[in-house]
Amino acid sequence: MDKDRAALDLDRIKGPVKEEFDSLGVYFKSFLQTDIPIIDRVFEHLIEGGGKRFRPLLVLLVSACSAARNPEHTFRLAVAVEFLHTATLLHDDVVDQSDLRRGNRVAYRIWGAEPSVLAGDYLYSRAFNLLVEIRDPAVLETISGATTRMARGEMLQLLRSYSPATTREEYLEVIRGKTSSLISATCEAAARLAGFDGAGIKSLREYGHNLGMSFQIVDDVLDYAGEKGVFGKATGKDFLEGKVTLPLILLMERLGAPEKSRILEIFKADSPSEEDFQAILEMMEGNDALEGTMEVAGSYRDAAIEALRAIPPGPCRESLESLADYVLERNQ
Ligand code: IPE
Ligand code: IPE
Ligand code: MG
Ligand code: MG
Repeated sequence: MDKDRAALDLDRIKGPVKEEFDSLGVYFKSFLQTDIPIIDRVFEHLIEGGGKRFRPLLVLLVSACSAARNPEHTFRLAVAVEFLHTATLLHDDVVDQSDLRRGNRVAYRIWGAEPSVLAGDYLYSRAFNLLVEIRDPAVLETISGATTRMARGEMLQLLRSYSPATTREEYLEVIRGKTSSLISATCEAAARLAGFDGAGIKSLREYGHNLGMSFQIVDDVLDYAGEKGVFGKATGKDFLEGKVTLPLILLMERLGAPEKSRILEIFKADSPSEEDFQAILEMMEGNDALEGTMEVAGSYRDAAIEALRAIPPGPCRESLESLADYVLERNQ
């Protein structure tokens, strides 16, 4: 899908909550409250870098599926999950030593690692202030459980780097923690705030889980095949830093012994090169590894849409369904 079509689709998906979505920027600013300019600068840099605001969009759409909503608390949750997400990106970019984020230089390459990590801590703490203000222990429990799982997922991934024997199950465990847990908890917490009953909350939690899994799998495909200048991040990063993601796992499953041992050798060398990356890309092409990975993402998309059957039909449910398609077609 070209960039313009993806943007157009997202605009249509936002339709039922367009006004609320467009006012998010004002809430981000008013909820940040700091007297330390560098925190504002780091955050503005990231916000102006054009993040998709995917998690706040989920809060607004889930909330709009129900009549019983409290707009103030909905915005607190929407802002809190984006602050948490942004905090993890600030930390993640230091851990991954990335160069590009949202099409711009990463914060730590501009201001240094120390202010970036501390600005991340600040955003993290502000998020929990906002969640406490919602005064709903179940919401707090849901989101705090997710942040613990995220940290665990990131740590597991670090421990498994340069391990070409990583299995599908191990990979799925990592992405369930680092990505899908927050997306699932976002949907669940929004459902709680919007007054959904137990079955509705469970459906939205499952929707979020499956959406989050496909979101990260697609991200891992884009890391191999994303278009420079559109994706907003560098490609080839996962492979070059020894991160074993589904495209590589699937490729290994499809290779014969000699090619497989070539990959094992590359990983033993500890620092895979750009030429190694090109060779892997060719092997992936020859073995339809990226297509196979997209099929796995597609099965999570289907499960996400299936989980929505318990939600009342209407424009908001349609947007949630389309969002599951968008995740598969996205190029940034
Ligand atoms: C990036 O998340 C990190 C992953 C979980 C893949 P997003 O793709 O939502 O990042 P932004 O917020 O749009 O930049
Ligand atoms: C996503 O991990 C970041 C978190 C969910 C904490 P990645 O390292 O795979 O994501 P990008 O590629 O930097 O966005
Ligand atoms: Mg990263
Ligand atoms: Mg990472």
